[in-house]
This record gives sequence, C-alpha cells and structure tokens, in this order.
Amino acid sequence: MCERATIVMGVETSCDETGVALVEDGTRILSNVVASSERFHRRFGGVVPEIASRKQVEVISAVAQDALEQAGVAWPRLDAVAVTYAPGLVGSLVVGVGFAKAIAFAHSLPLVAVHHIEAHIYSHFLATGSQPGKIGKIGTGTDFRRNQEPVPIFPEFPFLALVVSGGHSDLIAVRAHGDYELLGRTRDDAAGEAFDKGARLLGLGYPGGPAIDSAARGGDPRAHELPRALVPGSWDFSFSGVKTALARYLRETPQAERLSTEDLAACYQEAVVEPLVGKSVAAAQTLGFDRLMVGGGVANNTRLRRVMAERAREAGIEVRFPPPELCTDNAAMVAAAGYFRYRRGEVAGLDLDAYASARV
Ligand code: KG4
Ligand code: ZN
Repeated sequence: MCERATIVMGVETSCDETGVALVEDGTRILSNVVASSERFHRRFGGVVPEIASRKQVEVISAVAQDALEQAGVAWPRLDAVAVTYAPGLVGSLVVGVGFAKAIAFAHSLPLVAVHHIEAHIYSHFLATGSQPGKIGKIGTGTDFRRNQEPVPIFPEFPFLALVVSGGHSDLIAVRAHGDYELLGRTRDDAAGEAFDKGARLLGLGYPGGPAIDSAARGGDPRAHELPRALVPGSWDFSFSGVKTALARYLRETPQAERLSTEDLAACYQEAVVEPLVGKSVAAAQTLGFDRLMVGGGVANNTRLRRVMAERAREAGIEVRFPPPELCTDNAAMVAAAGYFRYRRGEVAGLDLDAYASARV
C-alpha cells in the first residue's frame, strides 16, 4: 500500500510578495501562488513597508484559497502549515505569521516556523511539473527524463549555499537538514540592494536587478573599472563602495563624456558579480565543498549564472541554480523547508512571533 503523502502549506510575506503554496513531501509543488504589490511601490523607487503590509492583509486569504483550488486540495487534507517568521519587513512578516497561526488554530494543524534564508536554500529541493521544458534547464537538480515526470535530484550534503537577494548576501555551509553555519555575509548593502540602488542611479527604474541585467547585455563590462571590495581575511562581501563609485562617476563626468547606460550597467553588474563568484568558488575550494547551491532573487542574474557556471566548472565544483520563479520570493520553498522541520518534530507554538532579523 502507498504511504499517504504529507502536504504542507507554505506562507511567505517577508517583503512585498504574498505567497501561499502547497507542497507534497517537501519536494513536489502542487501549487505556488505569488501576488506582488510591486506596482504600488514603483513610483517610490523601492518597497514602502506600510503599503506592502496593507496589501498583504487584503490579499492573503484569496491567495491561500487560490493555492488550495489550483492544487485541488481541501483544508482537511493539509498536514501542517509553515510560515516565514524572520527576517524581513516586520509589518509584512506579522501578516503571514498571524495568518498561519489562525490557520493552524482553526484547522488543528501543526505550525512550523521557517527562516527566510533557510527557505531559499530549500528551493533546491523542489521539483515542479508545471513547465517541464523551462525548468530543468540550468542545473536545477530536476530530472525530467522519466515520462516527463519531474524527479527531484536532491543536493547531496554537505554543500555550500550562496543566498543573494534584496536583503542578504550570505555564504552558508549546509552539512545536513537544519545544520547551517553562516560563513560570510555582506558588511553593508546586499547584492540585490546594490543592483536596485545602481539602477536608480542609472535611471533604469525599479526593481533594479532585472533592469541592470537587460541593459548590461548591450554593454561592455570592461569599459570602465569600478572598485571591488575584497574584504580580505573573511568570506564577507561589501557592495556599498561600488554604488558610491558609480554615484561619483555620474556626478563628476559631464553628460557628454559619459559612457553609455549599457556600458555602465555592464561594468556595475560585473563589479557585483565578480566578488560573489570569486568568494564563493574560493570558499568551496578552501573549505573542501564539492557543491555550491545558489539561490535568492539575484540568482536570476544572467551574468552571475554564466560566470559562476564557468568558474565552478574550472574548479571542479558542481553548481546549481533553481528555476527563476523559485529564485525570487515564493512560498513553495517555505513549505519545502517546513516539511523537513516538521519531519524532525520541530513545531512552533501559537505564541510564534515575527522578527525583522534573526540568524539562520
Ligand atoms: O529573493 P528576492 O525575491 O527577495 C528578497 O528576499 O529580497 O530578491 C529580490 C532581489 C531584488 O533586489 C532584485 O533587484 C534582485 O533580487 N533581482 C535581480 C535579478 N532579478 C531579481 N538582480 C540581478 N539580476 C536579476 N536578473
Ligand atoms: Zn528572499
């Protein structure tokens, strides 16, 4: 007889997204609904926390209903509810945590608390059947050969995880499920924050990462040298210097003498990508990791994917990126991380709180 699968509902509201997903056995996505309030923030050039949390309160019930309907699953079939409790915008986290607690109480479900960075790491454990052609292309760890049935190839432990997002640039040693050691982090701006601020300086709009990524395609990354902060003697990163250098260049160079926006975008992108790749590959080599799992919104950067893949190949390190929709914030990764915690019996109480910052 087949054992009944465990279905976990994931809830993610750490920034401007409202995500609810249903995931089976921590690996198979049944549904993954993400509503973004991005368009309401655009004219302010960045996320306005108050707007984000108000929109989340408005839509979270409908997003959860959608996730259930898309999966064809009813409330009584759920086994647990997992929620991001930290880190992020506290007003937004509170919405997700409050919602998940209400669900847990009303449906007598175990509640599981998930750290947002841990969730990004678990995006590598997911397989999705929705777009087999698209997913599985760039070392996603998903094998589609058997009758187009997505079969997740779990990353083997131990591995090194690089989580690069709007709020984080963390290098983490992952030795087993739930066993994390933070090796390096940013000393100032996160990589995504650097992209967003750089795009703003270049007049490329918000969100800046994808805008710089596409502008840079038409530019020469060697047209102008921007500084790379190496932070010697540690695995930490620093990205505020490159932003300041770009601001100074724009201030001191008359419009007529400036490089094109495409060239500047390419040079700026290179100055963010280079230390991410250099440090991650060097850390893997020095510390003896054969595998490197990259995640977070910045993992969608085309140049990062290409340079990281090349450099890792040269160093004999396996590198994987999740499919694009699992790099940016989503609730499927929260459900995946939650499932493995739930299996270990790590259940939270209904007094669970939200925290703007917390260590993974
Ligand atoms: O993981 P994520 O969705 O949210 C956070 O946890 O912060 O990451 C969002 C960040 C933003 O800063 C966005 O500009 C960046 O990821 N991003 C990119 C790209 N796509 C998204 N950065 C560089 N290149 C991209 N293609
Ligand atoms: Zn994130």
